[in-house]
Amino acid sequence: MNEEPSFLFVCLGNICRSPLAEGAFRRATEEAGFDILADSAGTAAYHVGEPPDPRAIETALRNGTDISHLRGRQLVRDDFARFTHILAMDHQNLRNIEALRPQGADTHVSLLMDMVPGREGAAIADPYYGGEENFADTWDDAWMAAQALVEHLRGRG
Ligand code: 4NP
Repeated sequence: MNEEPSFLFVCLGNICRSPLAEGAFRRATEEAGFDILADSAGTAAYHVGEPPDPRAIETALRNGTDISHLRGRQLVRDDFARFTHILAMDHQNLRNIEALRPQGADTHVSLLMDMVPGREGAAIADPYYGGEENFADTWDDAWMAAQALVEHLRGRG
């Protein structure tokens, strides 16, 4: 693929997992000197226009990343034209993304953790009904995936 890669991170609400994944990716690519289009979205519309969950904002800040400016939005069919890669946090997200795929769209859709050697097929657990430690785990997964994506981008040359 010669097209510049671009990444959309998708969860259910776009207030917990995918903003953390977007934040981790933005930080990792900045540190690596890459300027890559990235965004996040939710398959559901519950939290459209809202900032990330305060626990997600706090967790990102503790890891040196500000995601407080992000606002929730819902995945739309046009995202399949705007992004080369759509990365789902869990298997339900993956099914909902595929259900929206326009006919003929060749967008690469996979689980985010498929990018991490040894974690293929794994979901990032929803921390929404959990506590601080669940958000810390989400960050750790998101950061690991961001590093793996940077490695992919380096390998691409
Ligand atoms: P997320 O978490 O999909 O990681 O943003 C959730 C956020 C909100 C809800 C569920 C999960 N909710 O039911 O409102």
